[in-house]
Amino acid sequence: MGEALEPSKLPRHIGVVMDGNGRWAKKRGLPRVIGHQAGMKALERIIDAAKEIGIRYLSVYAFSTENWNRSSSEVQGLMGLFRYYLKGKMEQMHRRGARVRFAGRLDAFPEDILKVVAGAEQRTKDNRAIDVIFCVNYGGRQEILDAVTRLMASGYEGPVTEECLRGFMYAPDIPDPDLLIRTGGELRMSNFWLWEGAYSEYYFSDVLWPDFGKSELEGALVSYAGRERRYGTA
Ligand code: IPE
Ligand code: IPE
Ligand code: MG
Repeated sequence: MGEALEPSKLPRHIGVVMDGNGRWAKKRGLPRVIGHQAGMKALERIIDAAKEIGIRYLSVYAFSTENWNRSSSEVQGLMGLFRYYLKGKMEQMHRRGARVRFAGRLDAFPEDILKVVAGAEQRTKDNRAIDVIFCVNYGGRQEILDAVTRLMASGYEGPVTEECLRGFMYAPDIPDPDLLIRTGGELRMSNFWLWEGAYSEYYFSDVLWPDFGKSELEGALVSYAGRERRYGTA
């Protein structure tokens, strides 16, 4: 493990599809929202572990643009948890030295949530221990559409290059994810970091998100450390 966690072999940015909360709850005969609650505890553990290990950027997929299609009780439960988490945990994130950011179509959320989001970004903006990017109401296709729309609205008339389009994405200053982890056993990315993940390394775990902890994260890092990234070169 020691060698694998050598700083030069660590990903700078890890993205996580935190999947499996519903199945975790179902296995226990509990409502899905209890699974989401357990998922939040797992998230806190992973933020601490990532910071300890020396990961600079951690992005977490918390709610997709497609997740609105769930039952209204589940969506409401998730919004309630989101509100609770934002209002109750941001100070703790600040004390951890985490810079908190958000990526996604935040305008879909009610005013009180938007206020807390803006407050958290502002309050933690000088923190440098780790950047935690919450991807909420995030969809990779939506992000590209929003970037194109904003590019057109800007009056820009030059050639549309990768670099200029990137400038209109949700988090242009954050390096592309080096490693994308999905828990819960499904072998897909479900619209996460579609553009930014073009050359990411993938790691899939069967562990349901509420059970995912530091040792599972280290397993992903060991796998990552053994990869050779070529970006199309020979
Ligand atoms: C992921 O867990 C959390 C969100 C999508 C918000 P799921 O709720 O998708 O859990 P499963 O996949 O049904 O087990
Ligand atoms: C992806 O999980 C979204 C999040 C974890 C927030 P889903 O459970 O929504 O994805 P699918 O439906 O299995 O593709
Ligand atoms: Mg799921």
